[in-house]
Amino acid sequence: MVELLSVREGGLYVDGTLGFGGHASAIVAAGGRIVGCDRDPDALAASRQRLGDAAELHHARFSALPALLGARRADGILLDLGVSSPQLDRPERGFSFRGVGPLDMRMDPTSGQPAWEWLDRVDATALADVLWRYGDERRSRRIARALVERRAEEDVEPLRTTRQLAELVASVVPADGRIHPATRTFQAIRIFINDELGELERALAGFPACLAPGGRLVVISFHSLEDKAVKARFRELAGEGAARDLYGNPMTTPDYRLVERRPRKGQDDDNPRARSARVRAIERIA
Ligand SMILES: C[S@@+](CC[C@H](N)C(=O)[O-])C[C@H]1O[C@@H](n2cnc3c(N)ncnc32)[C@H](O)[C@@H]1O
Repeated sequence: MVELLSVREGGLYVDGTLGFGGHASAIVAAGGRIVGCDRDPDALAASRQRLGDAAELHHARFSALPALLGARRADGILLDLGVSSPQLDRPERGFSFRGVGPLDMRMDPTSGQPAWEWLDRVDATALADVLWRYGDERRSRRIARALVERRAEEDVEPLRTTRQLAELVASVVPADGRIHPATRTFQAIRIFINDELGELERALAGFPACLAPGGRLVVISFHSLEDKAVKARFRELAGEGAARDLYGNPMTTPDYRLVERRPRKGQDDDNPRARSARVRAIERIA
């Protein structure tokens, strides 16, 4: 990733998804200065410990970065989307259908509504829509109906834990032996609760202008909807599909160019998260 960002000594690099500071510390090791943020206070604390006081770190959503940067221009911006393994591995965060934890799923537990609160009042149509759109869940309507019926039952305790939701989904979705029946449901609710696609849209609108000439914006995504949004925006910025004259030449000179994707050297092939990642980059020309 340091290679794709083309990190240079003394350059200013923005990490919008610090997580536990893995990428940011590689940027620092290559001589870059860091401005970073994470909306998860635990991740921020871990990054702070790892990176020390030299890095400028904020507890913020990455959509707030243009405001945090002000007039400064970045030599590189990195977004490594989604949740981190430490978030998934800790049952008390509520992201995982394994183990028992509160049905929370907020990356920032200090703001917004926990998943259980939304599930207490969402109607079946809206829930099915989220499961279908963000989880590609073919049985979205069946799951939504089961949840609404469960809510209406007397003498059934309200849905408050990850285990309760995982069991509810498993009761109406047959196991296919490849993934847990609740995998898609958990993913979809997490994306909705954290407004992950809205955050990405705002970043794609605001970040390119934060780059210095020669600066690169690199986005790593795991969900096809994320990758689709990144691809469309980057192509638009690079002038692909823009009007051409009679001779086929572009009518305007784009301010950005697409950076060719190279194989990620040294990538941990045993890490399934890394294997399903899509990486795209643009560079500011003007
Ligand atoms: C995949 S992890 C990043 C891992 C990191 N690159 C590393 O090397 O450790 C994604 C992180 O982004 C954070 N995150 C996701 N969406 C965010 C947003 N809109 N604003 C700020 N942080 C966000 C999550 O809380 C999580 O810590």
